[in-house]
Amino acid sequence: MTTNTVARETECLLKNVGVMEFNKQHLRLASYAAEFQQLVDKLSETPPTIEDWRHIDALFGRISRFVAEHFRHEEQLMQEYDYPEYNNQKQMHNSFESKLIDVQSKIRGRDIRFTNDFCKELWEWLFHHINVVDVAYRDFFIEKGLK
Ligand SMILES: [Fe+2]
Ligand SMILES: [Fe+2]
Repeated sequence: MTTNTVARETECLLKNVGVMEFNKQHLRLASYAAEFQQLVDKLSETPPTIEDWRHIDALFGRISRFVAEHFRHEEQLMQEYDYPEYNNQKQMHNSFESKLIDVQSKIRGRDIRFTNDFCKELWEWLFHHINVVDVAYRDFFIEKGLK
């Protein structure tokens, strides 16, 4: 299955959170997760080469940067409109970012054992956070006139 196929299938599983910009960012996150999954699947067959580690570094860096960018956008909008669940969101975002820092240090130590657990966690976190936590701001932002 290609990354695009996985990303397209994932698109159907992600809920519409009401704010177009965030829907797009969620899709991009899911496509990164799909790309990461593919890489992990490939690495389960053979030990990573130097080239594979470079690929992991690059992809993980891209994921971390985009996660941070997305979280800051959401938090900014929540603060601007005084979203009542802001603190809860902020806490969840922070703890996920700490998790990413943890994983980053395993990657730096070239410890491949992080991959399977992390992949699973990444999907679970994304689905739960988008479909349960983020979707809860949908009506709030729609009422404020955002699309
Ligand atoms: Fe989000
Ligand atoms: Fe969020």
